[in-house]
Amino acid sequence: MIDSSDFRTKRAPLSRGAGYMPVLGFGTLIPDPDVTTSATRDALQAGFRHFDCAERYRNEGEVGEALRVGLATGGLAREDIFVTTKLWNTNHRPERVERAFEASLARLKLNYLDLYLIHTPYAFQPGDDQDPRDPNGNILYDQGVTLLETWRAMENLVDHGKFRAIGLSDVTLAGVAPIYESARIKPAVIQVESHPYLPERELLQYCKVNDTVFLAFAPLGHGMRPGPLEDPVISAIAARVGKTPAQVLLAWAVQRGTALLTTPRTAARARENFDIAALPDDAFDEINRIQTRQRFNAVVKTGSPGFIPQGR
Ligand SMILES: NC(=O)c1ccc[n+]([C@@H]2O[C@H](COP(=O)([O-])OP(=O)(O)OC[C@H]3O[C@@H](n4cnc5c(N)ncnc54)[C@H](OP(=O)(O)O)[C@@H]3O)[C@@H](O)[C@H]2O)c1
Repeated sequence: MIDSSDFRTKRAPLSRGAGYMPVLGFGTLIPDPDVTTSATRDALQAGFRHFDCAERYRNEGEVGEALRVGLATGGLAREDIFVTTKLWNTNHRPERVERAFEASLARLKLNYLDLYLIHTPYAFQPGDDQDPRDPNGNILYDQGVTLLETWRAMENLVDHGKFRAIGLSDVTLAGVAPIYESARIKPAVIQVESHPYLPERELLQYCKVNDTVFLAFAPLGHGMRPGPLEDPVISAIAARVGKTPAQVLLAWAVQRGTALLTTPRTAARARENFDIAALPDDAFDEINRIQTRQRFNAVVKTGSPGFIPQGR
């Protein structure tokens, strides 16, 4: 399914002939606007060609500007990069989808997107407040729209040429199967948390069978310690193969047939995280045998994200 032996330039084909996604993706979930700008520039310079954004990250403007400057300085064209953004929970009502997409596009200063994702399957009360809550602090969900209705609105925008590929994020296998059964355009990509402590094997297999790219976020376990970065199996392999623990984790993700998103915030980390290569088979198998199980991000259970700029 993935078409190059060099992990740094590997690309995954998207279903329906919708182009190719570079499997090494840079995630832009960075709360500080200045760091967003410098990290996006550094990622582009290090070689990343896939950028994952979201209206909820509240930094599409900074990402867009950094990409505009970076493409011009690096002699790159828009077609040389792959850009995704995501529809937020407060925009699930079908009549809000196109407006939300156009607003993201304008902030990103782009004239097309490569991929548009529904950020989570949870609809929140529609409106300008991205985090609507009752006086007790409970999320105000919107029971007036189904995920399938939002999906149909996404399909309509594909028909109108707004973007070529659509997908889902923060879904479970049980939650996603009904969409596959009813959708006219199947999800091209599913973005979920995944690392050796949360391999999501069944969902990965489901994606392979359905011609869907499995896009792993938090491949370093959100950088949390203790976590996969400090796992003794990972550290031992890193020492043995002369790579860093981060490089081992990212290589494992690509080697098992997923695309990934990582968020290095400095130029040195961007170069490190881009410079990955296949692991020896025995090392790959050893990682597959890790038994620890841990999810770091609870967004899949509530639609309310962790690790994200809060406030209104
Ligand atoms: N769909 C969703 O709901 C969802 C949720 C979360 C994330 N995402 C997407 O996925 C992207 C990646 O997620 P993530 O931020 O959790 O990725 P990650 O790469 O697993 O974790 C990033 C953390 O790892 C650390 N790190 C990065 N490179 C490192 C290295 N070489 N050695 C040691 N530590 C390193 C960073 O620390 P420093 O800050 O110190 O560099 C940062 O704290 C996000 O930016 C976003 O685009 C999507």
